[in-house]
Amino acid sequence: MNRKPKSLAVFPGSFDPITNGHIDIVARALSVFDELVIAILNNADKRPLFSVEERVEIIREAYRGNPRVRVDTFSGLLVDYAMKAGASVIVRGLRAISDFEFEFQLALMNRRLNPGIETIFIMAAEGYSYVSSRLVKEVFQLGGSVRELVPPVVERRLGEKQGLASVAPQSRRRRRRVR
Ligand code: PNS
Repeated sequence: MNRKPKSLAVFPGSFDPITNGHIDIVARALSVFDELVIAILNNADKRPLFSVEERVEIIREAYRGNPRVRVDTFSGLLVDYAMKAGASVIVRGLRAISDFEFEFQLALMNRRLNPGIETIFIMAAEGYSYVSSRLVKEVFQLGGSVRELVPPVVERRLGEKQGLASVAPQSRRRRRRVR
């Protein structure tokens, strides 16, 4: 039987932590590609809140039971990683026009580095246009609620980072809502 090869794309990023904006992009990418590798940049220069191992654990938990999503880490050039992973497409999300300038540069640099790899932009739902990992961390650290902005595993792991794991769920529910 002549089986069509599965289409595979790489969704790279820092994911510190993964947000519902990223989750939305993954869902949209899966409507185009058979499989997606979420590739976490292992960058020693940055000082992330979650280690790369923690981010792998978090994203694996978020996609447990979904065989179409794989989680991996990479260092070095993204296009080299994509080649090694067997993907000829890089997916990046666009939240707003302001994302475009940097993303355009990144895509053109990647094309220069490897013209065989195409970057595809997917627009996030409008409801996530203001959601970023940086703001999620800031809001949480300042006592605001990030529920609805991140998957439950991220909310829990943020709480654990702040030593709130032992706080009763009810008092966590009282966190101020930020909308
Ligand atoms: O989530 P982020 O931080 O916006 O993701 C940025 C990322 C990881 C996609 C980008 O920094 C990257 O691809 N880094 C790998 C290094 C690389 O390939 N650089 C050359 C392309 S400009």
